[in-house]
Amino acid sequence: MSDGYGNGKVILFGEHFVVHGASAIVAAISNRAIVKVRKNSAKENRIITELRVIPSLSTAGIARVLSSLNISDTYDVYLTGDLPTYGGLGSSAAFCVALTRAFAIDAGMKLSDDDVNRHAYEGEKSFHGNPSGVDNLAATYGSVFEFTRGKNPSENRFQKLQLTKSLDLVVSFTGKYSGTPKMVAKVKNLKETSPSKFEKLLAQYNDLFNQGKIALSKGKLDELGILMTKNHQLLQQLGTSDPLNDQIVELARKNGALGAKVTGGGGGGVCISLVKTESEAKELAILLTKAGFESFATRISTS
Ligand code: MEV
Repeated sequence: MSDGYGNGKVILFGEHFVVHGASAIVAAISNRAIVKVRKNSAKENRIITELRVIPSLSTAGIARVLSSLNISDTYDVYLTGDLPTYGGLGSSAAFCVALTRAFAIDAGMKLSDDDVNRHAYEGEKSFHGNPSGVDNLAATYGSVFEFTRGKNPSENRFQKLQLTKSLDLVVSFTGKYSGTPKMVAKVKNLKETSPSKFEKLLAQYNDLFNQGKIALSKGKLDELGILMTKNHQLLQQLGTSDPLNDQIVELARKNGALGAKVTGGGGGGVCISLVKTESEAKELAILLTKAGFESFATRISTS
């Protein structure tokens, strides 16, 4: 039996725009997917978990990671951990990173994090056909990154960002899940049918990203919050928000959040709200949960 793990993530700026070449800022969260893997003689891969997964997608991911690692055995994969498996926290990427680490240990391979990231990306393709690579980056390295997609994965650019202030966030679930592939396809359709609208939104986003990066590096939390809300408004125009996301954003801001936005694929899924302190995060998480949106507080630390 060999073990592996991968971190979940939140996107502070840039979901969807990142698929089309814009830069994004992603932060790993402490919640993780954890797997234990054991070779089987069943001649098929099996996923065993109490978490909510789509077995056919999970086994396709397992097969892709094994093929990328050039391993021809089949495995039973036991998935646990405290990372919710649906809705926008990068669980499929975290799963693929965890798998890559566990299979490599089982096969006696020594992989660098760059190798882990590369093989996990192959697995991630079975969950959504055209991932930018931003999720598995955070899942592998577990920090805060600026990420820009290249023409192919070897041309992706990323750099670790050093925070000057910790970020206290509240993660809230809408309870609705539209699925990342569907939302990515929706944006692609907008780009094809209304190219000038898309280009305008992309230009506004690029401007916002540059401001966001500066606010983050200077620890200007008020400004960061305002920019996160502006990013949410761009996602609304892109069609990847949902009335439930908008409700969370409004409620969070009315109750002291510096800013809030959809994070991840959207169309439901999850939102994040930025607050000033850990205790404010805990209070807001309780308030939003009472309002019907299951929430938890999380901190992105400076180290
Ligand atoms: C999903 O967490 C983020 C998206 O931008 C898709 C991707 O980057 O692959 C929506």
